[in-house]
Amino acid sequence: MINFNPVSEASAPGKIILFGEHAVVYGRPAIAAPVSQIRATASVTYSSSNLCFLVAPDLGRLDRLEDLPEDNPFARAVWLVVEAANLWQPPGVTIRFHSQIPIASGMGSGAAIAAAIIRALAKHLNRPELQTNEMVSALTYEVEKIHHGTPSGIDNTVVAYEQPIYFVRQSPQNQIEPFKVAAPLRFVVADTGVRSSTKFAVGDVRRQYNKQPAKFAKIFDECGRIAQTARQAIEAGDVSKVGQLMTENHTWLQKMTVSSPELDKLVEVALQAGALGAKLSGAGRGGNMLALVTDDAMEAKVRTALQNAGAINILTTTLN
Ligand code: MEV
Repeated sequence: MINFNPVSEASAPGKIILFGEHAVVYGRPAIAAPVSQIRATASVTYSSSNLCFLVAPDLGRLDRLEDLPEDNPFARAVWLVVEAANLWQPPGVTIRFHSQIPIASGMGSGAAIAAAIIRALAKHLNRPELQTNEMVSALTYEVEKIHHGTPSGIDNTVVAYEQPIYFVRQSPQNQIEPFKVAAPLRFVVADTGVRSSTKFAVGDVRRQYNKQPAKFAKIFDECGRIAQTARQAIEAGDVSKVGQLMTENHTWLQKMTVSSPELDKLVEVALQAGALGAKLSGAGRGGNMLALVTDDAMEAKVRTALQNAGAINILTTTLN
């Protein structure tokens, strides 16, 4: 007799990529961190109806699991747990989810919702082995494949482990290393307001790489070298070096064609306002950028400059 929990809840954070986006898809190192103050949450409530429903109040949706198409990422998250738990049919539950993470903005909203659903359902089923960070990350990775065909694995890893990580995509096992942050790093995160598809940006970089492999391999190498050097700088507490490397990474992302006029403008105004470094974060072409600041006065100046330049959803997150 399986002992179900009547109501199970779980959540997962948003994320930022500090260094190495896109190049990480091609095996170069990258660094990502959770943004714990904005989260996706899921709750699973037992229902005597024997039917499984997904409810997304933000999207105004209530669907029966079996009615959702195969490529629906939220339904995929549920089916993956059903399979991993060896159930012969989905449990009779209502799964509600909600996200504070802006969608299509480079902050991992899709990965966080999937991770929250997976963890909450595994809790409901009383299956601790499906609730480990490793397992939640692996199942979320399968969902991420719907968002784009060749995810590196960094987004699912950072939202499942909820700690800053140095990540290298490799077989048979990705390199996932938490690291020491010797001096706090304060990032202002600002949204261009331009929605951007990760699938499209990643696919476009792939097309360009296939056309000009040597040029793009060199760009990826530079981004990988920057991520490696940045890890040393973070571990040594060299905050101004971290800033320099962010701005340098942005110039390589521009060469990769994943920046945009809006992102470039926000990066420029943040630097002019005194930020130690700035770059786009995530898939690019829109979405978010980061600026590194050191104190309240610098933060206030950078925030005001970003706001005046049209940024929305400005928040600050500190890595300790
Ligand atoms: C998206 O957050 C990061 C990318 O590098 C894609 C990936 O790593 O899967 C653009």
